Amino acid sequence: MKKLEQIYEGKAKKVFKTDDEALVIVEYKDDATAFNGLKKGTIVGKGIINNKMSNMLMQLLEKHGVPTHYVEQLSDRETLVKKVSIVPLEVIIRNVSAGSFAKNYGVEEGIVFEEPTIEFSYKNDALGDPLINQYHALALKLATKEEIETIKNYAFKVNEVLKDYFRKLNIDLIDFKLEFGRLADGTIVLADEISPDTCRYWDSTTKEKLDKDRFRRDLGGVEDAYNEVMRRLMGE
Ligand code: TMP
Ligand code: ASP
Repeated sequence: MKKLEQIYEGKAKKVFKTDDEALVIVEYKDDATAFNGLKKGTIVGKGIINNKMSNMLMQLLEKHGVPTHYVEQLSDRETLVKKVSIVPLEVIIRNVSAGSFAKNYGVEEGIVFEEPTIEFSYKNDALGDPLINQYHALALKLATKEEIETIKNYAFKVNEVLKDYFRKLNIDLIDFKLEFGRLADGTIVLADEISPDTCRYWDSTTKEKLDKDRFRRDLGGVEDAYNEVMRRLMGE
């Protein structure tokens, strides 16, 4: 597979064309941002960890019936994925109160919900990714009714699979953000990444944070936290 010109650079990844119209290569960077790019930094080795972790979790999800963009890992930082057009929705599932949920609704972090919650943000940096509901998404023509139903079903399925998986590693899956894409024929697949950048992981015993909140909140030990999750997941 030939890596051709770069077609996109985001905050954490670059995307390159290949000689196959239907496939692109993503390359994971060590760059970290938070608060819509206001805070910038580097998490050494993050690109490698996020690439490997995301690929491993996407393969696990495929086995459980969730279609993803994953095709093949090419190197420590590069993965071949199906080309999609991203549905401009950030889909957030929460099992435990934390982050913007705790802040917006005036509750402490760590409240375990009886049922997971789902919310959508309009993926639009200029607007600061505002929270919307599914009727807003329809009104804005971000997705069809059928696509939103499919996305919700997949998102809750992802939660069940990942929650169980992480529980065995003594990690509580607090919340996470997903992005979906459309293949050329319109099929919805899970895209983007699943990593400590896009999830909250707490050690089940100590409740220590093992994710990007260590960077967002200047808690220190950022690299150690990413390495620890990687070690538990893949023995690396
Ligand atoms: P929040 O509590 O800040 O809304 O974040 C919820 C989850 O979504 C958390 O696991 C981090 C993830 N997330 C992203 O992946 N990208 C983002 O831009 C934001 C705001 C959150
Ligand atoms: N990645 C997002 C940004 O740069 C936010 C975050 O993960 O907190 O704004």
